[in-house]
Amino acid sequence: MIEQTLTLPCGHTVANRLCKSAMTEGLADANDQATAAHQRLYSTWARGGAAIQISGNIMIDRRYLERSGNVVVEDDSGLPQLRAWAKTVHEGGSQLWAQISHPGRQCPRLVNLTPLAPSEVQLAMGGNFGRPRAATEADIQDIIGRFAHTAALVKEAGFDGVQVHSAHGYLLSQFLSPRTNLRQDRWGGSLNSRASLLLAVIAAVRARVGPAYPISVKLNSSDFVKGGFTLDESIQVVQWLNDAGVDLLEVSGGTYEQLEFFKPQAAAEIRDSTREREAMFLDYAKSIKAVARMPIMVTGGFRTLAGMEAALAGGHTDMIGLARPFCLDPDFPARMLAGQMTRLPVPEDRLVLGQGFWGPNSASNLMRALNNQAQAGWYYHQIERLGAGLAPEPEVSPLRAMVAHFVKDFGRALRRKLA
Ligand SMILES: Cc1cc2nc3c(=O)[nH]c(=O)nc-3n(C[C@H](O)[C@H](O)[C@H](O)COP(=O)(O)O)c2cc1C
Repeated sequence: MIEQTLTLPCGHTVANRLCKSAMTEGLADANDQATAAHQRLYSTWARGGAAIQISGNIMIDRRYLERSGNVVVEDDSGLPQLRAWAKTVHEGGSQLWAQISHPGRQCPRLVNLTPLAPSEVQLAMGGNFGRPRAATEADIQDIIGRFAHTAALVKEAGFDGVQVHSAHGYLLSQFLSPRTNLRQDRWGGSLNSRASLLLAVIAAVRARVGPAYPISVKLNSSDFVKGGFTLDESIQVVQWLNDAGVDLLEVSGGTYEQLEFFKPQAAAEIRDSTREREAMFLDYAKSIKAVARMPIMVTGGFRTLAGMEAALAGGHTDMIGLARPFCLDPDFPARMLAGQMTRLPVPEDRLVLGQGFWGPNSASNLMRALNNQAQAGWYYHQIERLGAGLAPEPEVSPLRAMVAHFVKDFGRALRRKLA
């Protein structure tokens, strides 16, 4: 089944059911523009054979990044670099979709001391994120316009689709959550009001890109935090999205405060996986699929061909989203599509800083956050190597990768400020 084509509601067809989900690259230059490293990385991935490559977070406003090294598209100054990036993906035989995003309060202090968010609810994570300013009505109108403008620019550059990032605790996901959206105006309060920014963004993007251009939305099935966005709310939002002209709904979960897909038990479940149980959000996705009229893509934990095929055959998902396996084995889809490979590597157990106090289940918030950073740093290291035209280096220690990540992140932030 993974080799079957899929035609989206806008009429656009994708070549098979495998998609590389978004992974932030950190490869932009000091002016936030795409580089030759993006071309090398995505040309490798495109040749791997997955139908769609979704870019990492492409930011709509250079004042607010998820991390230094994000590509920003807010005007046409970076169009030549974006065109070259799209061209390498097309030459590799794949499609490139841009994930367009605003971090909201999940914007590190190294980028901005005062992020912009629905309300002044600060992220409780090691002091790395400043207390946000609550967006004014003018800010909200600006954000809607920026999402639409960025979408129009990436379309002009030859990207094949856009994905509006409304998951993982970024700005649109913050608006959806009653824990981070304490507003009393038309953008907060009832679920209907909390979802109105997402719906306004999709309408504005659609108005700019036209009816035949694919628009995807990445949505949490749940935030998995007390008082956050729940599965029932997610199901209701999907019913509204049914009428919004969405072509592909990617189902994920968690926020920075609860990074579901980095949780150690997730690795254990993947390792012991039998068929569809491996996909961590699949049970949630089943309830979403029951109401969704657009195609669904479940992402998170798929590691066996049997698990993917069972999820597709059961009608629980229409596409399979995959991220981390691409860092270790960039061309696995070709072998999987040819039936020569049935199981992907699961290195997550090794990517811990230690056990007990030092481990990912530590009672200390700081240690849990550092373990997340170690995992992320390890994958960033592999992405940087692929971007440099080198082979992955699975033997690198998570501690080393994390320290290198902190040092490089600081250097990138400094270079941006000096540029
Ligand atoms: C290094 C790294 C970077 C990521 N960056 C993004 C991102 O920019 N946008 C996004 O929506 N998800 C991002 N994710 C989450 C992935 O898209 C995906 O949802 C998650 O890794 C679960 O899928 P997997 O189990 O196949 O890795 C990232 C994940 C990793 C490991």
